Amino acid sequence: MALLTLEGFSDEPLQDALELLTAAGFSADVEPAREIYVNRDLRMNAISWVGFDMDYTLALYHQDELDALSVRHTVDTLIEHFGYPEAIRAIKPEPDFAIRGVVVDRKLGNILKLDSHYYVGRAYHGFQPVARELKKAYQDERIRLSLDRYVLVDTLFALPEAFLYAAIIDHLERDGDGAALDYMQLYDHIRAAIDLAHADGRIKRDVLGDIPRYVRRDPELAQTLHKLRSAGKHLFLLTNSEWYYTSELMSYMLDGALSSYPTWRNYFDVVITTAKKPWFFRGDDPFLLLDELGRPLREEQNGFIRGHVYEGGNLNDFQRKLGLRGSEVLYVGDHIYGDMIRSKRDSAWRTCMVIQEMEGELQKRDTMRAELNAWYALDHELAALNSDLSAHRRVLERLDAAYGLGTLDTALGQKVERARRDLKRHLDLLGKRRRTALGRLIDLDLEIAANFNPFWGFLFKEGAEHSFFGGQVEDYACIYTSRVSNLRQYSPLRYFRARTQHMPHEL
Ligand code: IMP
Ligand code: MG
Repeated sequence: MALLTLEGFSDEPLQDALELLTAAGFSADVEPAREIYVNRDLRMNAISWVGFDMDYTLALYHQDELDALSVRHTVDTLIEHFGYPEAIRAIKPEPDFAIRGVVVDRKLGNILKLDSHYYVGRAYHGFQPVARELKKAYQDERIRLSLDRYVLVDTLFALPEAFLYAAIIDHLERDGDGAALDYMQLYDHIRAAIDLAHADGRIKRDVLGDIPRYVRRDPELAQTLHKLRSAGKHLFLLTNSEWYYTSELMSYMLDGALSSYPTWRNYFDVVITTAKKPWFFRGDDPFLLLDELGRPLREEQNGFIRGHVYEGGNLNDFQRKLGLRGSEVLYVGDHIYGDMIRSKRDSAWRTCMVIQEMEGELQKRDTMRAELNAWYALDHELAALNSDLSAHRRVLERLDAAYGLGTLDTALGQKVERARRDLKRHLDLLGKRRRTALGRLIDLDLEIAANFNPFWGFLFKEGAEHSFFGGQVEDYACIYTSRVSNLRQYSPLRYFRARTQHMPHEL
């Protein structure tokens, strides 16, 4: 545990107080997995309203359990409604296979991981890596995600569909049943089946039947919300889930946690369910006031009544009713498109993205510290070699130019010629060292990435670049963190500062 200290500050009472606090177990450390990371400056004292999404934001799910449930319902529908063979029931979960940010190619039946420049770094057909020459075909053209050939997996709810797509292709083609597999249709069937399981309430019914199995109750959530409220922030809930589901999950997570809040609803000034994000940010649906059973009572024209619950609504009316400017709102969500992109594009809301995968990713970083340090050292060595090579090449170019002029007297000409030969030999040597270092770097990179995820490597990186997902997080989330309760470790008036960014020519 790091000692609480203030460098260069010799005020004695302060030092005493810090020592006492350290002895009492207060630490200056924030575990990396629980830190808040900053892409864009955010002054919390300029934020008066903090909004929360529910699913995968306030309510963190046990991913493997929820995925298995989704897969089970989807497989049932595929067999019963779309005539798929019973044999697909034998498909076993493969929790590592689907990650956020991968792209489904419905035309060729492949799943791709892109970097932030849309370059395909890895690709699978079923569970087999796509052959080199086929992968190359992707790399020769820019992937246009706007085409309906491609589907971006941008929410944790969508992981089962990416997994099942690969698993069914793998299963049917390996058994020889897949000769006439229509990849587009297969994806559409899976999408329709998952959509149905969500829409007809089967998934929600099972979750509500055994909430602890599916939902992780965060013991620090109540205190986190309380801390924000105590600092004068207003809180709101804005979820796409229906009232009946929202109320049960929120009760499970917050009721009884703090005696000053009799029920979860006391934490929030406004509660909006079935919000239809991303449409909420662009549309003009009215806010419907609901009764206690979640039945619509009437359209709400004016403000919101505290303690009541609403359905639907839209961004403009929300801000008008509350007399708010968009820049006063921080919205905390998990869905890159529904919560982050749309709220950024259509409003001035500031954004905090909850990325629950970060806990695992950062813990793995910790266990692989030695390998990562070796990687950074090699990367550094390569950068130095590259810069050496460029400097030597520049000199050689000058010597070549001087030699080519042919106006040099013989003695100087011979010296130039000798220098050119020496320099070329040295360049060969540097080139060899560079190739060796690069080879070692690539091997180490593969070893480290396989430890993070044997199929896809790092979530946030692809090769030397940000992964497509990492790029989107950087573009759309002002701040990001692994769970809502991490906010508790920071002052509600904190000025979150981004690191200064540099263009290559500025370094
Ligand atoms: P939020 O994250 O709280 O805004 O809500 C997510 C809601 O979307 C949950 O009620 C999910 O059940 C629902 N959902 C997630 N994926 C699908 C889908 O594919 N079809 C229909 N509803 C979905
Ligand atoms: Mg969500």
